[in-house]
Amino acid sequence: MEIDLSTITLRPFRSTDVDDFMSWAGDDQVTRSIRWETFTSREEALTFIKEVCITHPWRRSICIGDRSIGFVSIFPGSGDDRCRADIGYAVAAKYWGHGIGTKAVEIAVSQIFKDWPHLVRLQAYVDVENQSSRRVLERNKFQKEGLLRKYGFLKGKIRDLLVYSFLSADFPGQE
Ligand SMILES: CC(C)(COP(=O)(O)OP(=O)(O)OC[C@H]1O[C@@H](n2cnc3c(N)ncnc32)[C@H](O)[C@@H]1OP(=O)(O)O)[C@@H](O)C(=O)NCCC(=O)NCCS
Repeated sequence: MEIDLSTITLRPFRSTDVDDFMSWAGDDQVTRSIRWETFTSREEALTFIKEVCITHPWRRSICIGDRSIGFVSIFPGSGDDRCRADIGYAVAAKYWGHGIGTKAVEIAVSQIFKDWPHLVRLQAYVDVENQSSRRVLERNKFQKEGLLRKYGFLKGKIRDLLVYSFLSADFPGQE
């Protein structure tokens, strides 16, 4: 399968995404490495899209031909911590390995610092064993800052997580 990465777009979720959403959010392979539970019903997915995705501060559907094949979320810190935000993402398993995750994060990084001019630091916590997610961040010039031992609970196990960051000053020509 050849994917033209110039056709990858990010846009807000819509209720009408529900069937496409179920095709990846209902897949254990995709949810295994994120905090979401695997969706098992269309109704549950529709409620989640309406009540969580659409109202989220910055959650975008990764799309090909305007159809949802994944998500990127950026969640801001509050109060004095609004200088930083956390990024998370997933892509439908049938599209893995074609550069879509890397492209989606590239689009999100270039957009979020425009949308939120106060943002200085975008950070990601990644399971040390999640090689593909680590590569997505490294290919987008996130810096690996360190290993947080037994830091987070994910799918029944306490994990060692790596923390990565991209700063507004990391754009070429910035300081
Ligand atoms: C992480 C994820 C978004 C990557 O998406 P993707 O579209 O496959 O990413 P890319 O095609 O841009 O590939 C990124 C890197 O992962 C590698 N990769 C892709 N699929 C892989 C696989 N199944 N096994 C090992 N490496 C893989 C690619 O080769 C590439 O590495 P390279 O630069 O060394 O060639 C996707 O695997 C996913 O949705 N995983 C489940 C959810 C998840 O882990 N989210 C991140 C939580 S922090």
